[in-house]
Amino acid sequence: MQKFTYLAFILLLSGIIACNTGSEAPAVTAQQNDYYYEPHRPQFHFTPEANWMNDPNGMFYYEGNYHLFYQYFPDSTVWGPMHWGHAISEDLVRWEHLPIALYPDSIGCIFSGGAVVDNNNTSGLGTDNQTPIVATFTHHDFAGEKAKTNDFQKQSIAYSLDGGKEWSKYKGNPVIPNTEKIKDFRDPKVVWHEASQKWILVLAAYDKVKFYASSNLTEWEFISDFGIEGDQRLWECPDLFPMKVEGSDEMKWVLIVSIQKEAPNGGTASSYFVGDFDGTTFKCDPENQKWLDWGTDNYAFVTWNNLPESDGRTVGIGWMSNWQYAQIVPTEKWRSAMTIPRELKLFNVDENYTLYSMPTKEFESLRSKSTAFGQMNITDDKMLKGTFDPSQSEFDVTINLQKTTAESFGLKLENGAEEYFSIEFNKADGKMYVDRTHSAKNKFSDKFYDKVHTAPVDFNRETMNIRFLVDAASCEIFINGGELNFTSIFFPSEKFNKATIFARGGKLEVSNATIYELNSIWN
Ligand code: FRU
Repeated sequence: MQKFTYLAFILLLSGIIACNTGSEAPAVTAQQNDYYYEPHRPQFHFTPEANWMNDPNGMFYYEGNYHLFYQYFPDSTVWGPMHWGHAISEDLVRWEHLPIALYPDSIGCIFSGGAVVDNNNTSGLGTDNQTPIVATFTHHDFAGEKAKTNDFQKQSIAYSLDGGKEWSKYKGNPVIPNTEKIKDFRDPKVVWHEASQKWILVLAAYDKVKFYASSNLTEWEFISDFGIEGDQRLWECPDLFPMKVEGSDEMKWVLIVSIQKEAPNGGTASSYFVGDFDGTTFKCDPENQKWLDWGTDNYAFVTWNNLPESDGRTVGIGWMSNWQYAQIVPTEKWRSAMTIPRELKLFNVDENYTLYSMPTKEFESLRSKSTAFGQMNITDDKMLKGTFDPSQSEFDVTINLQKTTAESFGLKLENGAEEYFSIEFNKADGKMYVDRTHSAKNKFSDKFYDKVHTAPVDFNRETMNIRFLVDAASCEIFINGGELNFTSIFFPSEKFNKATIFARGGKLEVSNATIYELNSIWN
């Protein structure tokens, strides 16, 4: 079943039929609010203060600030007519909430998209001393959807002349009408293509990505599309960007696509292709689609635009949920968080291009008390404790391992309510198992607790490095420097306050391990 049928059902339930143009909300800094300490409130992940959030949108860096926009429904904790919520950060760690940036209008509500800083004023929307920032988004018209017109999604732009605070919709919207009447036609994101001196826009058109080119961001020409022959899955939120392959001068293009069903562990997930883009066509063996994250909870992952050349990084963020259950997770005032911002790196091992992702280095500024463990041989259970007190804060654990004889090993997080979340690495079948099925008493959704999740792991390396970021309602796992990622959310009835490393059937040789207590980003 396609999601919008489901979403339309939710809309009907909420009695919301027309777009709500809302009223201007004042800027509030989260620090002023006590309610950032409610049960399940992430302490180091971005969340809206209240109400519904999904995909990250329109991210760009400009004059010292990272801007983050997001799909937002300010009137409810379930999905509804979309706005773009807005926040900024100087370090990708601590966020300040800003007023809603884009409201629904007579063309429709504001679905996902991107934003670029038009430094050379190619759009002509700027002035001599005002650089235009141009957001591309989908206008979604519910009346058209209800009337089954099939052209109810169109691409539009908005621009800001004050560095991203205030936004004006472009008078000529939509800039890409839906002439072919494609029901799923959305999520435009733009990148500058230096060689052809053109802007390239990618959008999802059901099971394909369509590419458009423009020299001014307002007039777009269709140039090509890319898809997998016979693929029946719905594609969403594409992102296209060049990347230098680590340790070489080779440049490749990465195309990220979020996939609405049949993700490795069920439901929705972000994937990518690594290929070549010549200004017109993206070429890549479609067989080479890979998962950006093997967990259930990293969707619509997209990257920031306009990071300074001196920085040189590619940094992105995903929505830390899954459409299978996002609207019924047990939080009361708000729904959903973003993943931690991640730096991407591209490696080529034997012509196998792999995107690694790790938390950005700025994240380490949240680390406070730490406990370091030296060499340990573990044959049973070893509780990690020290100056660090997991009941007092969230934590960041790094474990470095030697090739081990243990048949299986892992990390278990527990609380006083006999609930647990565990990650087990099993050498015999070359997999990791992530078990959140015992992470709460109140099982709000069958889909959420249906099974233990898995990912393939290579145990033939001499050493292995594992990092876990544990927040009130999530664990992000980064293996071997980010070669494999696994993001999982959970809702225990009490915080997990015990962390144990375990080994079964042999010896686990830990070279060293460190646990850091993490400060909250909201104080
Ligand atoms: C992805 C998505 C996008 C769409 C938005 C609507 O989660 O379905 O394709 O633009 O959410 O909120």
